[in-house]
Amino acid sequence: MSNFVNHIRPRQVPGRVLSVFYTFCLGGLSFLAFIILGITGLLLMFHYLPGENTGFSSVLTLGSVLPYGGLLRNLHYWSAQIMVVTVNLHMLRVVWTHSYKPPRQLNWLVGVGLLILVLVLDFTGFLLVGSQESGAAATVAVNILKLIPGLGPGLAQIFLGRPSALSGSTLAVYVWHCVGLPFAALFLQFYHFWRIRRDGGVRPL
Ligand code: HEM
Repeated sequence: MSNFVNHIRPRQVPGRVLSVFYTFCLGGLSFLAFIILGITGLLLMFHYLPGENTGFSSVLTLGSVLPYGGLLRNLHYWSAQIMVVTVNLHMLRVVWTHSYKPPRQLNWLVGVGLLILVLVLDFTGFLLVGSQESGAAATVAVNILKLIPGLGPGLAQIFLGRPSALSGSTLAVYVWHCVGLPFAALFLQFYHFWRIRRDGGVRPL
């Protein structure tokens, strides 16, 4: 445990790893967006009601009736879009500087896991809006999952519940979006940060 803490919060950081023009701080900006998403998401949970009939109306009430509700929703939405952009740019930077090569190959795979989690979080967030578009998107997702032989229908039920074609908002999507996926992403991010130092810092050796 002390080893983990030492890596997350080191006493000394070599000056060479602080060069902004090497990383453009894209990983750090992704993490900042993640923190803003966590805080605004938690506040949104106080008012959002998942469900075919309640999802969309609670989003509308949130944006128009609740004081600062529109600001809260916009902060959450735009932080999510910014995170998708910064994570992709961060991955491009890693490719550009060949940082996916040994000894960082495992952290590259952790990064791929994070990219998938961020995209699925963005998608499930869109489903939670509960609009007709989100209902159509949920229907497409259910049909894709059902294509997996044998396991498909069960997986669709576990991950998406039973969304209607008119609203993608279900309790299953809500729990994945607010609990399962964010905590999985949080855990992977701390492992990602720990590995950066274990692999010798951000610069190629
Ligand atoms: C939630 C998403 C992510 C966060 C918060 C994150 C965060 C970070 C941070 C803070 C760094 C230190 C250097 C920098 O800021 O660029 C870093 C390095 C690294 N990241 Fe990520 N990252 C994420 C996603 C990814 C993805 C999608 C990949 C690739 C598939 C990836 C692969 C790597 C690798 C290989 C390094 C080491 C780079 C080097 O040594 O130069 N990360 N990450």
